[in-house]
Amino acid sequence: MKLWGGRFTKETNKLVESFNESLSFDQRFYKQDIRGSIAHVKMLSKQNILTNEERDIIIGGLLSIKEDIDNGLLIFDDGSEDIHSFVEAHLIERIGDIGKKLHTGRSRNDQVALDMKLYVRDEIDELMELLYELLCEVLNIMEKNKSTYMPGFTHLQKAQPTTLAHHFGAYFEMFVRDYDRLVSTRKRMNTSPLGAGAFAGTTYELDREYVAALLDFDMATRNSMDSVSDRDYLLELLSNLSILAMHLSRLSEEIIIWNTDEYRFVEMDDTYSTGSSIMPQKKNPDIAELIRGKSGRVYGSLISLLTTMKGLPLAYNKDMQEDKEMSFDAIDTLKSLIKLMSGMLSTMKFNHEKMAGSARGGFTNATDAADYLVKKNVAFRDAHEIVGRLVLYGIENKKSLDDFTLEEFKNISEYFEEDIYDAISLKTCVEKRNTKGAPGLNAINEEIKESKKILKLLNKNRKQENK
Ligand code: ARG
Repeated sequence: MKLWGGRFTKETNKLVESFNESLSFDQRFYKQDIRGSIAHVKMLSKQNILTNEERDIIIGGLLSIKEDIDNGLLIFDDGSEDIHSFVEAHLIERIGDIGKKLHTGRSRNDQVALDMKLYVRDEIDELMELLYELLCEVLNIMEKNKSTYMPGFTHLQKAQPTTLAHHFGAYFEMFVRDYDRLVSTRKRMNTSPLGAGAFAGTTYELDREYVAALLDFDMATRNSMDSVSDRDYLLELLSNLSILAMHLSRLSEEIIIWNTDEYRFVEMDDTYSTGSSIMPQKKNPDIAELIRGKSGRVYGSLISLLTTMKGLPLAYNKDMQEDKEMSFDAIDTLKSLIKLMSGMLSTMKFNHEKMAGSARGGFTNATDAADYLVKKNVAFRDAHEIVGRLVLYGIENKKSLDDFTLEEFKNISEYFEEDIYDAISLKTCVEKRNTKGAPGLNAINEEIKESKKILKLLNKNRKQENK
């Protein structure tokens, strides 16, 4: 059924019909469409625009449609233009002429704006849930690896020793910011556009705040023209998801590197790896690679929607129908990326010996050797120079600093004493770094304590949102 046949004298061109339709993808928010309609009808009866009897008949019809879709008895195959037409047509088919009153005081412009907000809000809640689980997994790795030494890198060159807990602490921070961004987008978008009509409101005495409250919005939107043309919250969500995808991609990249034979810091579980059709020995980190790769399509969605929106005059334009597939794709993608990352991390084994061995080589304690000299009153710039010469000597003689004899140290600088060995041991290099946020045991214990508090707070707020 068409919602707009009256002023037309010819049938729509078939190609136009299929080009124009959105039922194939907006069917996914049928629940939200029906929920919104029920709230609308309740409000109409409260305002004496519909009788209570009409309200109950319409709500009964809507619920039966929902139930039949839920159970697969009603499928989206009637050629309707969109989910709104589909539901309305079936309502009229089921309850007769009273069904024709449903759309009183409403346009598809405010209806679709509402449906999409309801749908996206539910999805944000689910994304937060999944992100929370990922944060728990990251914290779990941190707690177990406070003394798992590993090299830290700059320029992908070994730089200074650190711990696995410290390294994962960095991802904890990233994911907490990602979570915060979702919370803040959710808060800003939580206003109900219903009642904005096509864009200029209506002459019926609608109670927009009542509808907003029924649908758990903080309030009704303020300007009716903005209500139907605002897609900022989708752009915000897509940029939040792009940043999150970027973080997941960086972690994946590290896992891929750590999983190479040259590093072998980690062993991926068989359940999260794949093989090669030609090389029998291979066990590939495909999942990490796909997580890394899929960031591309998420950024793509953001750029697509920004581009779609950029030249649109107020208020509604059909271009905006394009917001759906891109948003759905990005949301679906992120939901599986987060789940897969959690699963991959929880099954991955860390090779502690390999990591510590690697941290010991490569002169990662050179900075500490220089700091040792500074404590003996050598100016840092001179200390840097002296240790540079030590490193050169080490490279030429294939020795790490820990393996130098005291004589070798003294040949380069008189300031070195027996206590140099302790000063540059892996343990000292890590454990003595206790400035806030550093890998030393005291500092990381503090960081973990804080992180636990943050998780608790997120958990509490989450439960409040969902109640
Ligand atoms: N399928 C449309 C969309 O997603 C619904 C709104 C249609 N409104 C209209 N005036 N044609 O945007």
